[in-house]
Amino acid sequence: MAPTTLHPDTVAVHAGREDLAAMGVHALPIDLSSTSPLPDVELGGLSYEVLATGGRPFDGGSNVYARLWNPTVGRFEVALAKLEHSEEAVAFSSGMAAITAVLLSLPRDRRHVVAVRPLYGGTDHLLDAGTLGTETTFTTPEGVAAALRPDTGLVIVESPANPSLELVDIRAVVAAAGDVPVVVDNTFATPVLQRPLDLGAAMSLHSATKYLGGHGDVVGGVVACDAKTAAALRRTRAITGAILHPLAAYLLHRGLATLPIRVRAQQAGATRVAAHLAHHPHVARVHFPGLPGADPKGLIGTQQDGPGAMVSIELEGGYDAAVTLTSSVRVFTHAVSLGSVDSLIQHPASLTHRPVAAAAKPGAGLVRLSIGLEDPDDLIADLDQALAQIAGGSGAAEEALEDTAATETSATV
Ligand SMILES: Cc1ncc(COP(=O)(O)O)c(C=O)c1O
Repeated sequence: MAPTTLHPDTVAVHAGREDLAAMGVHALPIDLSSTSPLPDVELGGLSYEVLATGGRPFDGGSNVYARLWNPTVGRFEVALAKLEHSEEAVAFSSGMAAITAVLLSLPRDRRHVVAVRPLYGGTDHLLDAGTLGTETTFTTPEGVAAALRPDTGLVIVESPANPSLELVDIRAVVAAAGDVPVVVDNTFATPVLQRPLDLGAAMSLHSATKYLGGHGDVVGGVVACDAKTAAALRRTRAITGAILHPLAAYLLHRGLATLPIRVRAQQAGATRVAAHLAHHPHVARVHFPGLPGADPKGLIGTQQDGPGAMVSIELEGGYDAAVTLTSSVRVFTHAVSLGSVDSLIQHPASLTHRPVAAAAKPGAGLVRLSIGLEDPDDLIADLDQALAQIAGGSGAAEEALEDTAATETSATV
């Protein structure tokens, strides 16, 4: 008999596949239909009504049109909801489409948003610009309660934050928000390390482009939430045309099976890289929640199951050093995005956080690393040789270059 409570790693492999054996298939099926046959006018019309207003398909009904519902997307949503411990999930064409739908779904009289900085630059920009008719008060975790207004409809927070990797106490933010729903951008932690709904948040949001996909070949977004919120989000998704493509849903669902093992291996690599960089002469500061002193509130173990696989570093040499480092790496790829099996490096102030207001922009010497699945020794050697290129390299930096010369062949890809 199958156990009633499965471990998360088992859920990651099997969720959303429960009916496959009865269908006589083993791999996830993909339905690419843009339109679906209608049983008759009446049931077709009823199906349309239900799906366009945020409902789910019913027995004997039709999927009607792929902007309203797609079964491949629905499967991925079922699987993600199980991992996030939520009733439902709603998938979008990108992380920004997911954030857009959350904002557009706010009641008309509750369009004030309290946003805890730092946030991903695109989110920050969308909120700051007020493009979707929202008004935003940016604040700190401690400032949430004071920033609330009668018309506040949402509190948004990222933990770990992008790119500072600060851990925000989600339970404390939820308590401060009172009856205002809190959405947590869980992109960096993934449900493997953190399940925001268990901490009291109303929604857990992802750029699925990152760890959920995990292979740098899909763009998507998803929100895990209760059934009522999911219906509102599906309605917005149907009206605005922001549904995830079924091929992307297939890739994301397939990616979930390896998510736990990828995240843990990438986290182990990041822990090694962060510990090494903490003693590097060109590195003024390493931001990584797993380093001593980096988690003063003790949130690792109580909120987040591990430090994750993102590392940010502040370089002694500022912007010029960042330019040299990002252009000198050989194993890392100089590119935005994160969470892939391969390691990426980028300069947030110039790229992901370029549109952020000057006062909240990351420093010129800050570089963000997304640690992949390569051997951490190769990543460390690559960073050492690239850091040694920085002008005014100290003796220790030159030594690092000499030390890594022996491993250079394996580091050149
Ligand atoms: C934390 C975070 N949230 C949201 C987004 C936006 O997601 P997408 O690029 O899939 O639209 C990103 C993108 O980098 C991100 O890093």
